[in-house]
Amino acid sequence: MQIGPYRIDPPVALAPMAGVTDKPFRQLCKKLGAGLAVSEMTTSDPRLWTTRKSLHRMDHAGEPDPVSVQIAGYDPAMLAQAARYNVDHGAQIIDINMGCPAKKVCNVYAGSALLQDEALVARICEATVRAVEVPVTLKIRTGWNRDNRNGVRIAQIAQDAGIAALTVHGRTRADLYNGEAEYDTIASIKAAVSIPVFANGDVDTPQRARAVLDCRTPLHRCTSPRHTHRASR
Ligand SMILES: Cc1cc2nc3c(=O)[nH]c(=O)nc-3n(C[C@H](O)[C@H](O)[C@H](O)COP(=O)(O)O)c2cc1C
Repeated sequence: MQIGPYRIDPPVALAPMAGVTDKPFRQLCKKLGAGLAVSEMTTSDPRLWTTRKSLHRMDHAGEPDPVSVQIAGYDPAMLAQAARYNVDHGAQIIDINMGCPAKKVCNVYAGSALLQDEALVARICEATVRAVEVPVTLKIRTGWNRDNRNGVRIAQIAQDAGIAALTVHGRTRADLYNGEAEYDTIASIKAAVSIPVFANGDVDTPQRARAVLDCRTPLHRCTSPRHTHRASR
């Protein structure tokens, strides 16, 4: 898998997890073979960049390449500024969070709440891609709820805006972390774009990761009972 100038090998990534994937955890995962390890979500609000938490999350000294930093917010200009700020502080890939279902994030119309406003998704992606020289990736869910699975449209919007790779958490926002990841929906999203796509959700054993990586679209043809994580390219 190629993300801008970075070869992601193996095409297996540590997903961003606030409170979990801090620098020592990412360093450990990269040492153990992860092709990519994404930072905890960092806020795009500059008023919060000097808090202890943000300073800690934005410290990438000594971290192996490529350093991928996730930013969260709702305002295109703020996200663009946050992308620039994080690149100045060592980010080599910027990942935009449109997957977080947490109320405190969605209530300010960030994270997965953004999936409800496709025009805003386009503006955010375009502004962030324009703001930095490094590749910008995007993390989404399959949609807002089961009646509004707009992941295919969001993926196409992202690709048109210059997003370099996409991660799809195979659940809707309404599903939170419940139920099984929808690999058939992820397969439809992957089939609709040419940028690399990470499948995310329910990767809890190496065997499941292998099964998903070995699958070919459509994923529901796979023989493994639970598919876990799949990356294309
Ligand atoms: C404790 C925790 C923190 C998380 N924090 C983030 C985050 O900061 N950014 C993000 O995009 N996703 C976050 N996620 C979601 C994960 O990256 C991933 O999409 C999700 O856990 C996949 O589903 P699974 O648990 O079935 O594998 C978090 C998940 C957990 C459990």
